Amino acid sequence: MPEIRVVNFCKYFGKVKAVDNVSFDVKDGEFVALLGPSGCGKTTTLLTLAGIYKPTAGEIYFGDELVNDVPPKYRSVGMVFQNYALYPHMNIFENIAFPLRAKKLPRDEIEKRVKEVARKLMIDQLLDRRPSQISGGQQQRVALARALVKEPAILLFDEPLSNLDAKLRMLMRAEIKHLQSELGITSVYVTHDQAEAMTMASRIAVFSMGKLVQYGTPDDVYDRPKNMFVAAFIGNPPMNFLEGFTVVGDNQKLHARRGNIRVELPKEARNRLENAPRENLVLGIRPEHIKIHFKEKENTIPGLVYVLEPLGRDLIVNVKLEDTDEIVKIFAEPGVDFEEGQKVYMEPWVDKIHLFDPQTEETLL
Ligand SMILES: Nc1ncnc2c1ncn2[C@@H]1O[C@H](COP(=O)(O)OP(=O)(O)OP(=O)(O)O)[C@@H](O)[C@H]1O
Ligand SMILES: [Mg+2]
Repeated sequence: MPEIRVVNFCKYFGKVKAVDNVSFDVKDGEFVALLGPSGCGKTTTLLTLAGIYKPTAGEIYFGDELVNDVPPKYRSVGMVFQNYALYPHMNIFENIAFPLRAKKLPRDEIEKRVKEVARKLMIDQLLDRRPSQISGGQQQRVALARALVKEPAILLFDEPLSNLDAKLRMLMRAEIKHLQSELGITSVYVTHDQAEAMTMASRIAVFSMGKLVQYGTPDDVYDRPKNMFVAAFIGNPPMNFLEGFTVVGDNQKLHARRGNIRVELPKEARNRLENAPRENLVLGIRPEHIKIHFKEKENTIPGLVYVLEPLGRDLIVNVKLEDTDEIVKIFAEPGVDFEEGQKVYMEPWVDKIHLFDPQTEETLL
């Protein structure tokens, strides 16, 4: 039985449709991310799960219970907000211990739990200080520790790592993931950082403008994006899009063609494209799914090396197409040298090609 079920949920603020007809479920003990750009309705959804907002329409279930009208304090929900509120007059230890004292746990049990969670979140050196005497990122981790230590039935996170530097974010996302799976607490985690959602969650709900665009595993949303929004939002650098392709076929294979560019399409394309539009389509290819050749070859796209972006382990080659301003980003194979201005031929992996309808922006393959 799903632990949380959101059914046709809408939340309107006057004319603003903050969340519009969204349905998804979170299994018992699962870690789900709500992912999307600023203003897409993530916090609104989370606050409704917490009971702070009531749905304008639709139902929220925890287990079998309809909780639409259940106030926050009866929901056994822990929440880490975008703006964390710590008790200013208590030191960090007492801030974290607060929910355990409220539960009247034995003193040594409280001390053990607080120290353990503080060590994992790397704030164990700060336990004597007050919130005003630690940094914003440290305060954020104290708020996180306080929510985790309480071990509620459901944990709701709203961008809990937003104030940390990139390196600390990476450390913390692994710690939170580990703690969550150890405690087995059903969790919903709001973020606009696709890397955070991909690395932490077992399923990702991708939101755009108040709507749920796609709900699936990290592999689903990465390898089988439903539309151009998801394809562009997930992955860094994002998927490359090239517009204006026509599908042409002989009895053997289908190709996508634009001018003198011709690339082979995957086998399934023949069935999938039967009733689909065939002109003016958008070709999508991820940066790691293109092989660069230095000699002309069939099924390749010619271009000139525009700029190189070395990342240490990876090298991103930016290739500018001839006669257009389009730039394609490619993860180069290791050990190959490139020069700016060099002529290259890009070969997309046939079975990794995406094709989108330019009107609906939905995938066709
Ligand atoms: N109390 C409110 N009154 C009116 N409009 C609101 C209210 N709260 C949110 N909104 C609007 O609803 C939409 C969704 O807001 P929400 O806070 O859920 O976005 P978000 O996805 O959490 O964004 P962010 O990543 O910036 O935190 C926005 O357009 C916002 O302006
Ligand atoms: Mg928000």
